[in-house]
Amino acid sequence: MHKLKDLINQGRNALSVCYERHEAENVLKMVFSSALSLDSKDLIMKADADLSDEEYRKIAGIFGELETGKPVQQVLHEAWFMDMKFYVDKNVLIPRPETEELVLWILERFPAMDHSQINFLDIGTGSACIPVSISKLRPSWNIYALDVSGPALEVAQKNALSHNVAINFSLLDILACDKTALLSLLNPSESNNENLFDIIVSNPPYVKDSEMSSMHVRVKSFEPHIALFVPDEDPLVFYREIALKSSQVLKSGGSLFLELNEALSAQLSDLLLSFGYKDVEVRKDFFGKDRMISAVYTH
Ligand SMILES: C[S@@+](CC[C@H](N)C(=O)[O-])C[C@H]1O[C@@H](n2cnc3c(N)ncnc32)[C@H](O)[C@@H]1O
Repeated sequence: MHKLKDLINQGRNALSVCYERHEAENVLKMVFSSALSLDSKDLIMKADADLSDEEYRKIAGIFGELETGKPVQQVLHEAWFMDMKFYVDKNVLIPRPETEELVLWILERFPAMDHSQINFLDIGTGSACIPVSISKLRPSWNIYALDVSGPALEVAQKNALSHNVAINFSLLDILACDKTALLSLLNPSESNNENLFDIIVSNPPYVKDSEMSSMHVRVKSFEPHIALFVPDEDPLVFYREIALKSSQVLKSGGSLFLELNEALSAQLSDLLLSFGYKDVEVRKDFFGKDRMISAVYTH
């Protein structure tokens, strides 16, 4: 038999190797909550309780994986976004709090009462954290999402299913596809491509290859590089393609929302203006860093 308190101490030791103290405590709580449904109070009140061999092996196995540097969300296969639980694995970026702020900005711009029949597209959807949360909070919208990664789309489908929302997913490379491919998402059986998008959002890869070495091992060794990195010589590659193609498939007055690296905000504003976008607005995240940009396209 194993005492819960012994396992808690074992976990603290294991986590102290790869986490700051405060972070380690949070990870510890996440592990016990997810694996044994024990909350912080239980960890104190039931410290002397005995665990079965099976429970012990399960938790010890989790700590072993965490010691390798694997992110806790990938070990537990769960990440929280907009108060919703998402399945995650090695094929998708772990949803970030900054991206919640992007979603909140969209919701603020498009209040629930208005805009009942919005056509909404997420480019590079990953876990589908953006379209699933938007779909939950704006159920009347028509939601589309694409990604170049088949395995990521499998995760996205799984999350749409578990949250019981209807999202039209497509396997598409935004760098290689043309306007027709994007319009066919909305108009699968029509030749005139009448329908256009009201809102396009993307959190594209934006970390320069050269920045990889300075990133935390949890990110660079475990999260998909296809979701993160862009060539040093062309860090705006995704933004350029997305801005160009969005200008071709947005309704007049349609909105583009993008997450960005603070170092790119000035360049990105100029890029959007050069493509004819108006009302370009940069927003800071919770930490006061330029983190997102929106613009309106008028034909
Ligand atoms: C930074 S992640 C964002 C994931 C998710 N939207 C989020 O915010 O958590 C970028 C996503 O873009 C996808 N991606 C990379 N290259 C792409 C391409 N050429 N066309 C479409 N999607 C692409 C990746 O697979 C990844 O899921």
